Amino acid sequence: MTVQPGQCNCAAESFTERDVVAIVEKYGREQDQLLAMLLDIQEASGSSCVLREWAAIVAREIGLPLSKVFEVLTFYSMFSTEPRGRYLVEICKSAPCKMCKSDEVVAMFEKELGIKLGKTTPDKLFTLMHTSCVGACDIGPVAKIGEDVYGDLTPEKVSEIVNSYREKN
Ligand code: FES
Repeated sequence: MTVQPGQCNCAAESFTERDVVAIVEKYGREQDQLLAMLLDIQEASGSSCVLREWAAIVAREIGLPLSKVFEVLTFYSMFSTEPRGRYLVEICKSAPCKMCKSDEVVAMFEKELGIKLGKTTPDKLFTLMHTSCVGACDIGPVAKIGEDVYGDLTPEKVSEIVNSYREKN
């Protein structure tokens, strides 16, 4: 099952049932590997999300009620069932970073990406959002993209960072 044309115009369209099943099989269809499966699906989808239809495939393949899969998807804030950008740009909003003017970092990324916080760029590459402390308070205010954490940010550095991700595509 491919996501139907018109349902969304993002990278999710090229991520198919076969891709979902391959990930489920990689984890031996083990129910206790559900979290890892969903993380892999979200990462591999190219749209930083686990669509409802993919959750249904996972539930079917590992023999769990769909409601259980949704419980996991809704409990953890890192999951989304709506398509997002390939790269999630997460700006720390916890107190230590807030005190170091994390709002200015949000403004830098908003300017560089041409979108507001909470939005996705038209090319579906970036979604700009807040996150909680990522444990790098000493270099705050901090931005996290995937597994990479960036601190001591200036407008020039933000521009370089964004361009380095653009060049990967
Ligand atoms: Fe921002 Fe810890 S408060 S990284």
